[in-house]
Amino acid sequence: MVNFLYSTLAISALTNVASAHGFLQTVIVNGINYTGWQVFSDPFVTPIPTRYTRRYQNNGPVPDFTTKNITCNVGSNDGSIVPNIPVQPGDKIKLQWDQWGSSHSGPVMNYLAKCTGSCKSFKGDSGNVWVKIDQMAYDKSKNPPWGSDMLAKQGASWTITVPRNLAPGEYVLRHEILGLHVAGQRMGAQFYPSCSQLTVSGSGTQQLPSGVALPGAYNPDDTKGVLVQLWQVNAGQVEYVAPGGSVWSGAAPNVNGA
Ligand SMILES: *[C@@H]1O[C@H](CO)[C@@H](O)[C@H](O)[C@H]1NC(C)=O
Ligand SMILES: *[C@@H]1O[C@H](CO)[C@@H](O)[C@H](O)[C@H]1NC(C)=O
Repeated sequence: MVNFLYSTLAISALTNVASAHGFLQTVIVNGINYTGWQVFSDPFVTPIPTRYTRRYQNNGPVPDFTTKNITCNVGSNDGSIVPNIPVQPGDKIKLQWDQWGSSHSGPVMNYLAKCTGSCKSFKGDSGNVWVKIDQMAYDKSKNPPWGSDMLAKQGASWTITVPRNLAPGEYVLRHEILGLHVAGQRMGAQFYPSCSQLTVSGSGTQQLPSGVALPGAYNPDDTKGVLVQLWQVNAGQVEYVAPGGSVWSGAAPNVNGA
């Protein structure tokens, strides 16, 4: 009886976690679905299917965003088993989540890192390699104003544009939601990153500039973007500034919530 009760509680706790969080289900470019790592089913499939996001453990936030787990989520950060997605400068990339709840308000942020050599051996967990190419943080002129709520409104999807003059090469695309609903407590900010790999072709000439380091750029004591009370931002009492720096001038404009 006691065992039964415990397992019922455990199951309902898991169900709550599953219903509140989410993961990047698929990356869609030019009408082609590049399926991401399906956290609840793929670990049990034999042979393990080919997927277009680096593997991660579950659909929850990164438990400690000051560690290397923040780079590409909690997992092996193994690019060698992930094929690259072919894109051209100017292509739209649609990032489709399985779900996203509107209770987890915060910014949506997207970064590129140039793979030194091949993305197969590139981890991106040291150096200022991450360049922000798109974000929506808190924009009162939009309805809803938070990026993640806009993502939820758009059917749990987000669309970015490959920078129009980006030089050919291999890049990691790091797409991320930051949930701020418990960010008023230190280390309460919930980051949900995922990494996919791109081969950019075409004849662009712009190299990425220096960016930010992940881990490194997300400071637990950043009271503008990480250690914040969501309600104070919503009430207009504090100005919100997303962590990870500003969007690169070579990036294309945000097309979400337009
Ligand atoms: C891509 O995947 C989505 C979601 O799984 C599905 O609804 C859609 O029909 C798929 N599109 C294509 C072109 O396969
Ligand atoms: C990443 O997170 C997992 C799960 O919490 C933990 O076991 C592991 O030690 C973490 N890795 C690093 C580099 O902190």
